[in-house]
Amino acid sequence: MLREVTLSINGQTHRLSVDDTASLPDVLRTELELKGARYGCGAGQCGACAVLVDGEDRASCQLEVGNLEGKSITTLEGIGTPERPHPLQTAFLDLQAGQCGYCLSGIIVAAKALLDRNPDPSRAEIAQALSWHLCRCGAHNRILAAVALAAERMRAQVAA
Ligand code: FES
Ligand code: FES
Repeated sequence: MLREVTLSINGQTHRLSVDDTASLPDVLRTELELKGARYGCGAGQCGACAVLVDGEDRASCQLEVGNLEGKSITTLEGIGTPERPHPLQTAFLDLQAGQCGYCLSGIIVAAKALLDRNPDPSRAEIAQALSWHLCRCGAHNRILAAVALAAERMRAQVAA
């Protein structure tokens, strides 16, 4: 049903006249020009479309915008910018953690959720947090290393 939907995305409030059954990535990409969340499987299986909803790593392709009012949504664009990258983004660049990059928006979002609740995760904990995120390029080892590097740098910042 077409109606006004109010969404909180990356700390900004958006009032949009949209079909309330539209999927979140459709609205992000077509109404708001936020293209970080990518379509992969469209079935909640790959993680390419992940965003944070109230801090939880969620498959946005499975979320209808009409059910998201009152929730805090964070997309890749809300995590860092080219001018002010998040330590995760810097670590992924420094280790060249990825090949095609298609999976990385969702993986960085998921890693942000992990580090927010656990600043010193083990390799197993990182792997567990990212376990539903597929990377068909097979860049898993560098991805795990990049998350660990970001965590280490963030802990060093806090300690400084
Ligand atoms: S596109 Fe949403 S989980 Fe694959
Ligand atoms: S870097 Fe290509 S899918 Fe992960």
